[in-house]
Amino acid sequence: HTIAVIHGPNLNMLGRREPEIYGAMTLAAIDQALQERAAAAGVELHCMQSNHEGELVDFIQTIGWSADGIIINPGALTHYGLSLRDALAMLKAPIIEVHISNVYRREPFRHTSVVAPVATGQIAGLGWRGYLLALEWLIAELS
Ligand code: DQA
Repeated sequence: HTIAVIHGPNLNMLGRREPEIYGAMTLAAIDQALQERAAAAGVELHCMQSNHEGELVDFIQTIGWSADGIIINPGALTHYGLSLRDALAMLKAPIIEVHISNVYRREPFRHTSVVAPVATGQIAGLGWRGYLLALEWLIAELS
């Protein structure tokens, strides 16, 4: 099985970006932890990050298209990224939307997700481990 892990805008700055909200883990460290778990389960992981919505769409149309599951943190695109949402809507595989912070206890503009209606489920507020929990669910679901 292959799983695509997609990180949207500004998530390349994790570790340095508002650490009181997003924690001290870097994106590289998160991807590393996910790779280790995936390897133990015999799953192939394709991790990518982009600050550009079109690049995320390109990735979803290629790697994402043939993946057996998607883990995505769309960053701020969560709240308005309609071409990202439409790209995800094409996929048949399960999609887990992950947010490091609890978006529902933050600013009102973060309470709406245009991605949630095309996702299988969502994890928010559990820090970087939300990605690991999403991976755990997909591993169980795919086996
Ligand atoms: C985020 C929440 C978004 O509102 C924000 O724009 C992000 C990160 C999260 O992981 O908590 O970039 O998706």
